[in-house]
Amino acid sequence: MSAPRPHPGLFITFEGIDGSGKSTQARLLADTLRAQGHTVILTREPGGSPGAEEIRTLVLQGDPDRWSAETELLLFTAARRDHLERVIWPALAAGQIVICDRFADSTRMYQGRTGLRSRVDALHDLMIGMEPDLTLLVDMDPEASLSRAKARATEEERFEDFGLPLQCQMREDFLALSREFSARFSVIQGNQSIEKVALDISQTVLEHLEASAS
Ligand code: ADP
Ligand code: TYD
Repeated sequence: MSAPRPHPGLFITFEGIDGSGKSTQARLLADTLRAQGHTVILTREPGGSPGAEEIRTLVLQGDPDRWSAETELLLFTAARRDHLERVIWPALAAGQIVICDRFADSTRMYQGRTGLRSRVDALHDLMIGMEPDLTLLVDMDPEASLSRAKARATEEERFEDFGLPLQCQMREDFLALSREFSARFSVIQGNQSIEKVALDISQTVLEHLEASAS
């Protein structure tokens, strides 16, 4: 099984540090696009398919030292492959819009940060082999986003446990990644009201839809 190329759908991903508002905005964008008559699959990573959700539990819960960096990379990639095969590729092949809360750019950032970027890229080329059509980077001040993320108090804290220094590093790395893949990235100012962020995002997506239709 492989990625439909070129596919008639639209693959949009949300990226950014924890608590920046990705999940909130992914939901709102799905509502907006559905109201416009599009068929939308709203999904997330790690997870998004039954098998990948099981892997999500393995990678996000428990001791921060539970997995080696290499094992963690393999687990995230295995989850992504299952998610693509069972959910994303069939939806794109059917011409639907897929909105995914985090995707491979998160692996480049989080698993790539400990000197593993070349292995992340090699594994991506070998097992994933596709990029989103549009990536919305919700950029935001790490102190504010960390307090938002902490206020949620879930059990999925393996990464949030790394705290403010990691979030600051991640913000800079995400911005660098948006320059590396500038053709598909759009940077959204996250430190605004939920409604204003949603408006900026829907305008960006509308422009993308219009450009790809012409
Ligand atoms: P992420 O998916 O990036 O971790 P969430 O969408 O889950 O972020 O948002 C984290 C928390 O911050 C949630 O409680 C959410 O309601 C709140 N939140 C999201 N966007 C904003 C915003 N623009 N202003 C204030 N609070 C927000
Ligand atoms: P997520 O539930 O999106 O967290 P949040 O809503 O707080 O932003 O993702 C959980 C964590 O998983 C997040 O800290 C980033 C991490 N992650 C990786 O390390 N690699 C990956 O490939 C993905 C998709 C997520």
